[in-house]
Amino acid sequence: MSIFQYFSKDANKRAKYIFNTIAPVYAKVDHSLEKSYLRSMDLLSEEIDITGKTILDIGTGTGAWAAMFLDKASSVHGIDFSDKMLAVSTKKHPKIHFSEGNAEHLENIPDQSFDILTASFVLHGVTSDRRNKILLEMLRVSKEAIIIHDFVGKTPLFIRLLEFMEQSDYKNFKKQFYNELSEISQWQTKVIPSRDGSGLYIAKK
Ligand SMILES: C[S@@+](CC[C@H](N)C(=O)[O-])C[C@H]1O[C@@H](n2cnc3c(N)ncnc32)[C@H](O)[C@@H]1O
Repeated sequence: MSIFQYFSKDANKRAKYIFNTIAPVYAKVDHSLEKSYLRSMDLLSEEIDITGKTILDIGTGTGAWAAMFLDKASSVHGIDFSDKMLAVSTKKHPKIHFSEGNAEHLENIPDQSFDILTASFVLHGVTSDRRNKILLEMLRVSKEAIIIHDFVGKTPLFIRLLEFMEQSDYKNFKKQFYNELSEISQWQTKVIPSRDGSGLYIAKK
């Protein structure tokens, strides 16, 4: 792993480098996300019953969002392209099935093989062409719904700084993601803001 990857023109290489580098820190702070993630799960439970459902979490990182589904879902799987993030999640959440992979290329996963596909704080990080590729893959693999947990509304200052460092697409994401989701999915779509600059974008068949 070389620092030069941070300056790579290949956005995936850059993101992988960043998340591999910050994985040990992320592992120590991800419990601080719990309150906000639980609030989002409460909002989600008013929209979708996840009881007995099969879940695939894209860009699962340390597994903090995937773990929210464990109580009710029949199985939870997570995919990420950062081996260092996966090393953390595998240790932390033995009940979740983790594997390494790029969300833009889920070709080895058959159509409609999971009830629900989800992604938490992944899609704002990539440009709209990559985002659309990931969305198409999620829609193909999902039987009934996709749930995107990400920025909605005003973003706190320290997060804006982090997003600047990550060179993410969060500004465009906030402006255009709801329309992208509606147009690409042609499913029933809804956005549900939470209290802390995050929220849910839901597309149901
Ligand atoms: C900000 S973290 C969020 C982690 C987790 N979903 C959560 O909410 O705590 C973004 C994660 O997405 C992963 N990621 C970004 N782009 C990806 C891609 N194209 N394929 C697979 N993983 C990706 C990164 O490696 C990182 O672990």
